[in-house]
Amino acid sequence: MGCPLSKSGNDSDNQNQSKTGENKNGEGAVNKPLDPRLPLNVRQKFNLSKSWKGIAREMDMTGVLMFVKLFEDNAELLKLFTSFQELKTKQSQMESMELQEHASKVMGNLDEMISSLDNMDYFITHLHSVGKLHRKLPDFKKEYFFKMEKAFLEAVKEVLQDRYTENMENIYNIIIKLILQTVAEGYENDYD
Ligand code: HEM
Repeated sequence: MGCPLSKSGNDSDNQNQSKTGENKNGEGAVNKPLDPRLPLNVRQKFNLSKSWKGIAREMDMTGVLMFVKLFEDNAELLKLFTSFQELKTKQSQMESMELQEHASKVMGNLDEMISSLDNMDYFITHLHSVGKLHRKLPDFKKEYFFKMEKAFLEAVKEVLQDRYTENMENIYNIIIKLILQTVAEGYENDYD
């Protein structure tokens, strides 16, 4: 593997890197200090981007699984979704085009966020606006965002199988908490 982060060793390994932070293969500013608003180190961020490729290939399936798990644990949330609130069984939810369409939008957002960890201004601004758009939903409550955490982690685990190591579990825990916290802030406060 060409990237120094794929080798064993500590995060300060910086042989093969120039002062700009680019390594000899021109693979980007791996040595650039991370934004302090991102609670991941360089190696964790690298591992997340690599692992997420496995989710990105199964995006629609992961999204549907996430919502099915969300409704399994929180049946009362189903009534918020006018286009598929009548789907009471797991089977009918798994097969619903309407649910898949919505799940794809949410997963598309998460995908964009995980691709934007080098630009925390964009990450935060975008998630605040996603949070804000939920204000128009009657009966929505800020706490609902946090219900997505468990469903997200379970869906990612199911899709990644043995690639969902303890290390990756820790990283996904950190990133989904940050995403949901930021979305909830945008729901609650005005930032624009
Ligand atoms: C990271 C978490 C979340 C993201 C990124 C997200 C994203 C979105 C987006 C992009 C839309 C707009 C879809 C459109 O324009 O049609 C939307 C709508 C909606 N979201 Fe979320 N959402 C999140 C969490 C949640 C949670 C936890 C709930 C729980 C109930 C929820 C309930 C809804 C509902 C009811 C709508 C409206 C759907 C409709 O009009 O049929 N969202 N969400």
